[in-house]
Amino acid sequence: MNTKRTIDELVRDNIRALKPYRSARDDFDSGILLDANENSFGAPYPDEQELNRYPMPYQEELRSKVAAFRGVQSEQVFVGAGSDEAIDLLFRIFCKPGKDRILINPPTYGMYKVSAAINDVGYDEVLLTEDFQLQPESILNTVQPDTKIIFICSPNNPTSNNIRAEDICTVARRFKGIVVVDEAYIDFSEQQSMASKIDEYPNLVVLQTMSKSFGLAGIRLGMAIANKAIISYMLKVKAPYNVNKLTSQTAIAAFSKLNIVYRNINAMLAERKKLIRKLNSLTYIQKVYPSDANFVLFKIEGAPDVYEALAQKGVIIRYRGNEPLCENCLRVSVGTPPENERFFKALERVISEL
Ligand SMILES: Cc1ncc(COP(=O)(O)O)c(C=O)c1O
Repeated sequence: MNTKRTIDELVRDNIRALKPYRSARDDFDSGILLDANENSFGAPYPDEQELNRYPMPYQEELRSKVAAFRGVQSEQVFVGAGSDEAIDLLFRIFCKPGKDRILINPPTYGMYKVSAAINDVGYDEVLLTEDFQLQPESILNTVQPDTKIIFICSPNNPTSNNIRAEDICTVARRFKGIVVVDEAYIDFSEQQSMASKIDEYPNLVVLQTMSKSFGLAGIRLGMAIANKAIISYMLKVKAPYNVNKLTSQTAIAAFSKLNIVYRNINAMLAERKKLIRKLNSLTYIQKVYPSDANFVLFKIEGAPDVYEALAQKGVIIRYRGNEPLCENCLRVSVGTPPENERFFKALERVISEL
């Protein structure tokens, strides 16, 4: 199969024809730099990073670090302002506003719908099963001629479980459009990343982020991993300097601190286990769902009141009961031991006052 041709056919005509903005540094990036209307007199404070200069448009160094970490090639990596930027770009590349559609599998991450609405793209929904797994046959039967992207979140938010890899592969093999697998929480899971499958499935896009396992939500760095043809379109459509220097340098530095990243992941996993055990010990709680992510979903009668009462006590968690299959469900992120202790004490108090 000619991957490039397959992808070219899926891309919107205007994007295929687009001549991208050529940034100031595309041709020359050293010498007397008087080409980009930067401020040669410098930043308003001591500045070793040359913040008066624009960042690298294609972030080669950062992309090569991500690629090495995920076992893919640099040309198979896009970096942007959080995975949310990648989600929005995929809409703009593949979905014609007012015509094309996406398919989502609720209960799932809310941003796919929001991004669809922003881009004037319709959506179809195929619910997960009772145990929060995909329904590949229903998905494939629901697909319409204008369905361009199927979004799958694994581990899924808010249900926290892995989606079975073989089901994702079934969808990717049989759907003629793009399959996006959002792996924001993959490093907390024992399941292998689908990034290893991008050569096998040319229509697969894997989203990852530094917001979760790397503990760097504040820098806004997300990535898409896919075949070169898709990544080339993402690079073509993105804003010229979409990743700023401070973010890029911080992200690159994080790859030399992987021992600490892994230490923190392990600490979180130990806390997750404790949290689940403690929640299970409260008879008032109806169900605690298993977790492959850094949060736990649990079902409790009167969830909206419990949520409010916890907030009154200064403990903020998330009410997810409006999502299908999640009636009376609350979602709590796994915190540090003292944070979890505070949460648990507050929860016990709230339950005793109900
Ligand atoms: C499934 C999922 N994808 C993506 C994101 C957002 O990631 P980023 O911070 O990289 O935009 C979140 C944030 O909570 C998420 O739950």
